[in-house]
Amino acid sequence: MGMGESLVEDHGSPRLALPPRPPTKLGLLKLLRATRENSVGTWVDAAFDMEISERRMLWRHVVIANAPDHVRHVMLDNADNYIRSALSRRLLEPGLGQGLLTTHGATWRRQRRTMAPAFAAKRIAAFAPAMVDAALRLVEDWALVPPTATIDVAEAMSGLTLAIISEAMFSVRVDPEIALIGQAVAAYQSAIRPSAADLLGFPEWFPRPAVARARKIFGESDRVIRRLIEERRRDGGPDDLLAMLLAAPEGDAPVSAKEVRDQVATIFTAGHETTANTLAWTFYLLSQHPAELVRLEDELDRVVGDRPVRAEDVADLPFTRMVIEESMRLYPPAHTMSRQALGPDRLGDIALKKGSNVLIVPWLLHRHRKLWDRPDEFRPERFMPEQVAARPRFAYIPFGAGPHICIGAAFAMTEAILCLATLAKRFRLTLVPGTNVEPVGQITLRPRNGLPMRVERR
Ligand code: HEM
Repeated sequence: MGMGESLVEDHGSPRLALPPRPPTKLGLLKLLRATRENSVGTWVDAAFDMEISERRMLWRHVVIANAPDHVRHVMLDNADNYIRSALSRRLLEPGLGQGLLTTHGATWRRQRRTMAPAFAAKRIAAFAPAMVDAALRLVEDWALVPPTATIDVAEAMSGLTLAIISEAMFSVRVDPEIALIGQAVAAYQSAIRPSAADLLGFPEWFPRPAVARARKIFGESDRVIRRLIEERRRDGGPDDLLAMLLAAPEGDAPVSAKEVRDQVATIFTAGHETTANTLAWTFYLLSQHPAELVRLEDELDRVVGDRPVRAEDVADLPFTRMVIEESMRLYPPAHTMSRQALGPDRLGDIALKKGSNVLIVPWLLHRHRKLWDRPDEFRPERFMPEQVAARPRFAYIPFGAGPHICIGAAFAMTEAILCLATLAKRFRLTLVPGTNVEPVGQITLRPRNGLPMRVERR
């Protein structure tokens, strides 16, 4: 397919929100500034059909692996040679401590084994009622909103997924103390940006202020988590995520309070904003594509009708699922992943040394011109089973791949489907006219100024 052909709008497809695209490769200083500000806005047009490239940033050698085979090599086949990059660990460790997102090697393996049962597919259905109830509470709120009022749907989705993860974790519905944990996680996410020192790979001893700031942000929230852990150890309680985190696998030493605290902060961080962004982008996309919206509504009316949505419906809502999948293709919440080589390796023509960094960028891969027909258009039917089977498996990686693949993927898909179904069954959301939607890639990919929309009862 030729350059730019994908932008032709002969199907009446609306032009969807994109970040500004620099006309030429950015010099080092501009690149640093732009990366801190909006990392998905740093890619030039040619990045969307290259397979691999490299750049040097003073102390760092950075390779961009942008073909399914290279992604597969780094994330799966030779995964033992890679750990999460020092940069991502340095961003997350001050706040999240030693949890699944920051550990590696034997510690990570033990933690992953401890947590896996909590997220096993058969457990997910148990969380479904909490997911639907939280969405129904939002339905009640929205029922009171006048049709001319503006709602920030990004913020609303954030509140929704926070309520869900809080209930899944602690079995507590609305509680000001638990809200503190959510606020801390949200404040931490917006406070962390890679510093120039991090991006350039300054040596480890170079002073960075993040730790003190993280302590301050998490201070209150940590006290709440510690108390909840103590109470639970003393009094027991329901079979929720906290219970699963506290239960070490047979033969293992008991899990320390510090480690449980770190996993709670990790799961709140990894599991809340990501799903919220998916839902927000999905409502944005549906507002721009009336035909797909009607198809979604038809499916919901036919399968669910007037009763509340339930876990068993998920398997019967293929189009709803395809809409979410296509939304995560165009706006992948985890837009960039990074790895660091433990020893030498080779990717295509590029030689990696110990310490070389590899970027895997769903933002590029999911819009790659050699992998996708009309990559910038919203077409849920791409996720029909025949079409999925015809594509390389590693062309689409919203949840990553290999041993570090998102532990919450099944949880997140169920949550997104149940919430979208519950809300779209009752309301139509329209973008406030004149809104400029711009994707910003920081820790997750979100709309820069939120998503001001109007809700209309169906
Ligand atoms: C749409 C929503 C979500 C997206 C797009 C997403 C995406 C991802 C991605 C791409 C990774 C791999 C990162 C890497 O390889 O460096 C990851 C890891 C992880 N995710 Fe998710 N995630 C989502 C929801 C969730 C939820 C709901 C939870 C928990 C309740 C969760 C917990 C985690 C954890 C703990 C890891 C680290 C896994 C490991 O390294 O072993 N995520 N996620």
